[in-house]
Formats: sequence, C-alpha cells, structure tokens
Amino acid sequence: MVMSLALEQVTNLTYEQQELIKNMSTNLQVIADISQADVFIDCLLPGGKTAIVVAEANPNTAPSLYQESVLGQVALEEAEPGVLFCLKNGKPVIGSRGISQENIVMQQDIVPITDCDGKPIAVLIKERDISETIRNERKVKSLMETTNSQERQKLVQSLVIQEIHHRVKNNLQVISSLLRLQMRRSSSKEVREVFEDSLSRISSMALVHNYLAKDGLEEVDVKFVMGQIGTLLVSSSVIPGQNIQVFVHGESLFLPSDKATSLALVVNELIQNGIKHAFHSRESGRIEITINSRKQMVYLIVSDNGSGMTVQPNDLQSSSLGLQLVRMLVEEELDGVLSFFPSTRGTKVSIMFPIRDKVME
Ligand SMILES: Nc1ncnc2c1ncn2[C@@H]1O[C@H](COP(=O)(O)OP(=O)(O)OP(=O)(O)O)[C@@H](O)[C@H]1O
Ligand SMILES: [Mg+2]
Repeated sequence: MVMSLALEQVTNLTYEQQELIKNMSTNLQVIADISQADVFIDCLLPGGKTAIVVAEANPNTAPSLYQESVLGQVALEEAEPGVLFCLKNGKPVIGSRGISQENIVMQQDIVPITDCDGKPIAVLIKERDISETIRNERKVKSLMETTNSQERQKLVQSLVIQEIHHRVKNNLQVISSLLRLQMRRSSSKEVREVFEDSLSRISSMALVHNYLAKDGLEEVDVKFVMGQIGTLLVSSSVIPGQNIQVFVHGESLFLPSDKATSLALVVNELIQNGIKHAFHSRESGRIEITINSRKQMVYLIVSDNGSGMTVQPNDLQSSSLGLQLVRMLVEEELDGVLSFFPSTRGTKVSIMFPIRDKVME
C-alpha cells in the first residue's frame, strides 16, 4: 500500500518540486512490487540535519521488512548518514548492508530524485531482505574453502536444490497472484469458489516448498506441514461464528518433497471437505488427522465428527474434483490405498502407502 504525507507541511520545496515528488509517489507501489522491496521517499527538513519519510510502499510480491508504517518518521544524520549524504550531494549510495528495525539483514540502496535543474530534492530508498543471499554466500564461501570433494559436492547440491525450491516458491506466488486477479473480475459466487479451491491447493503446495526453501532441506516434516495447512484452511474458510478445530496427532514424519507435496494436497482436500460439508448448521466440529508409520508403511487417517457423507464415495460425480484428485494422488502418486468409512457420526478416510528406499529401523 502506498502512503504519502502532505509535503507542504514538512519541507520548504517549491510547488513544482512538490508536484514532482507527488508524481513519483504514485508510482511507488509498482516500484516496490517489481523490486520485491520496501521503498520510501525521504526529503530534507529545514536545517539540513534531518530527513523525513514522506512516502512509502511495501511490496505485494514479497514479505515486507516492516510491520508498521514509518511514514513521518524523522531520521537523524547519525542514524541514516547515507540518506543525508545522498540528499545533500545528489550522489547514489548503493549496496549498503544493515539490520532493519525488525532485525532482518537487509540491503539498502539510495538514489537521488532531482528537479528539472538537476538539484536533489528527495531520495528514493529501497530496502530488501537479503538474509537468504547471506546464507548462500556463506555456503559458497565454505565451498571455496572446502577441499574435501565429497563435502564440496554435497554443498553444491544443497545450493542448487535450495535455488530450485526458491524459484518454485516464487512461481507459485506468481500463479496465486494471477488467479486472485482473475477471481476479482468475476461477480459469480460459483466462479469465485472454484478459484478459491485452486488457490487453496496452490497454498498447500507452497507450504511444502516454503519448508524446503527455508533451509535447503531435502525432506519435509509432513506432520508440521499438515498442521500449517489446517490452520490456514480454518482461518480462510470457516464461517464466522462456527468453531471448527483441526488436530494433528502422531509423530513427525519426514518424506521426500514429491511425496510430501502429494500428501499435502490430499490433506488439503480432506480438511476442506470437512469444513465445507460436514458441519452444516452446526456450531462446532473437530477434524482429526492421525499419522502413523511402521517400518516402510505410512498410515494416515483423516476423520471428522460431522454429519457423514450422503453420496457414495465410489460413484462420485465428475463435477466434484476434490475426491477424484485425492484418489488419483493416493493411487498413482503415492502407490497407496484409499478407503472411506462413512457413518452418521462423521466421515473417516484412511490412506495407506509405502515409502520407497526407506531404511528400516
Ligand atoms: N467430510 C465430509 N462430510 C460430509 N460430506 C462430504 C465430506 N467429504 C465429502 N463429502 C461429500 O462428497 C462430495 C464430493 O466431495 P469432493 O471433494 O469430491 O467435491 P466438493 O467438495 O463438492 O468439490 P471440490 O472439492 O471439487 O471443490 C461433496 O460434495 C460432499 O457432498
Ligand atoms: Mg472437496
């Protein structure tokens, strides 16, 4: 969101110079979005020793470094020497690294905004989270220092994997934004619901990738991810006034990313079905997920204490995609077996599949 202050109150700029800065502020959001960074415009205050933030925009394409607005904040020369230097001398200050107000490692770039005579009247500041870059730099550094070829290979592999996950995560973010944009263009409730289903499927896949991209790990704790999916779905789709809780029982289970993604999608559909179909006109409900593994076999049960299924799970209409997707993922991706245990006291779905290459304890 872009916010800007009444410039005339805080600076001694001419009308034309103020108009120039206002113009620039209207483009600030696009700049923040394309550079995946927080961007600000600062002006010099009379006296020449302090600067003030007159406009800001947080990116929609990446997490912001700031939880609160800094609009109107005054920066002293000691705290922001780069900003003051650029404001007074009109020279850019690029690539400084520092710690943000919220304690995140960031890179700050400052460029002057000049009027038609070339006089600096404000600065454009870009601040971007670079904690991931730093982590990778450290890995590359230790890579350069490692002479052990096996260790080297392991490091290269983990760097490449992390980079791939990172790109996948970004792509999923772009797809979600596109769908959300398209969804807003429709006034039909049905169309919006279809989009929301797709968005929730993508979010569940993204959760798996977030997990992988975070530390460059190759395996995912599916118990942890299922908990996250539950929280996400409850917060985004439960009707106000209704109390539906999702519980995940069992031990942590680490699976390779392809199996973890399939399982995340399966659980996404089953939880969503519970929320959508099991608790009509009920005030509360419980959805329980239990994970067990024995040797190379994984057993997963998703149950709810709702009204039960009225349709036969085996002759589902082609119009409903959810359970067809579940069946396909369980049978084809996980090489497993899916069974339904519908009753009037709720629905229980069980999934059983082997983990290949598992070292049996
Ligand atoms: N936990 C449940 N409790 C009660 N009924 C259920 C439950 N799960 C599924 N159903 C019934 O089975 C039908 C098929 O489910 P399915 O997930 O395939 O489709 P959907 O949820 O209607 O649509 P979609 O998942 O494609 O958005 C549902 O419409 C609903 O009637
Ligand atoms: Mg469904």
